[in-house]
Amino acid sequence: MATTRPVVLVTGASSGIGKEAARAFVTAGFEVIGTGRKTSGLTPPAGVTYLDLDVASDDSATAAVGEVIDRFGRIDVLVNNAGVGSAGAVEENSVAQAQNVLNINVLGVIRMTKAVLPHMRAQGGGRIINISSVLGVAPQPFMALYVAAKHAIEGYSESLDHEVREYGVRVLLVQPAYTKTSFDTNAAQPDTPLPLYAERRRVFDEVIADAMKGGDAPAVVAKVIVTAATDKKPKLRYAAGPLASRVTTARRLVPAGVFDKQIRKNNRLPT
Ligand SMILES: NC(=O)c1ccc[n+]([C@@H]2O[C@H](COP(=O)([O-])OP(=O)(O)OC[C@H]3O[C@@H](n4cnc5c(N)ncnc54)[C@H](OP(=O)(O)O)[C@@H]3O)[C@@H](O)[C@H]2O)c1
Repeated sequence: MATTRPVVLVTGASSGIGKEAARAFVTAGFEVIGTGRKTSGLTPPAGVTYLDLDVASDDSATAAVGEVIDRFGRIDVLVNNAGVGSAGAVEENSVAQAQNVLNINVLGVIRMTKAVLPHMRAQGGGRIINISSVLGVAPQPFMALYVAAKHAIEGYSESLDHEVREYGVRVLLVQPAYTKTSFDTNAAQPDTPLPLYAERRRVFDEVIADAMKGGDAPAVVAKVIVTAATDKKPKLRYAAGPLASRVTTARRLVPAGVFDKQIRKNNRLPT
């Protein structure tokens, strides 16, 4: 069933930002395929086709992309949105836990990117939109695994964009700040907790809970994702929402020492 509409594949579209992005792409006139690990029994938003995909599996990534190509004939836009948060001090996350978080958040993006690139090159164009975060350019204590993953995605995307631009393919980054989804409740919790960090972790939980209360609606990020997919002159990075714009601008312009002090203040760490 080839389609005349542009085809977008949104990973992690069973909830949160991905689900809202899938809705926004339907409104923008796209053929929309959204994924979750287990979509049977879920009701997709109107106009969205759900597919099963576990980005932590090579076979699943290859099969999902193959199925979209078989059914719809092409993939114009891939949104690498699936991801998981992490909490805890670095000493409280086992290496196995680090492997799991990085497998989803970094290798998941790499698997999906490698699976779609041959098709995009063959069709003479496409866009890969990687959902980063303000934590792709700024630190966040007690979330180091997640921050490491998003920093990796920033460097990967910017490098790859230079490799594939001459084939008509662009690789772009969308950087949300706090967004009201189930992200914090779905985050990997420390699997080797240490009493030493218990109080700091309690404060961290409060800081994040407060920030989430003032977070953006997922629709704010969804709109920016559609803009990245459709901009005539695409930019490498799109901050999503006013807080994200402030943080990414501050990261570029504020002296390192001042930025460092602010991070400690925000996280109620001794200065
Ligand atoms: N919320 C925020 O404050 C915030 C801020 C900056 C960036 N982000 C980024 O935005 C993206 C979406 O997060 P969200 O806030 O919408 O969180 P969310 O509501 O928890 O959604 C995460 C999505 O990822 C999917 N997923 C998780 N593990 C997966 C796997 N192994 N394979 C395939 N899909 C998987 C989930 O689907 P299933 O569980 O159904 O598989 C779900 O659809 C993430 O990349 C996150 O890092 C979020």
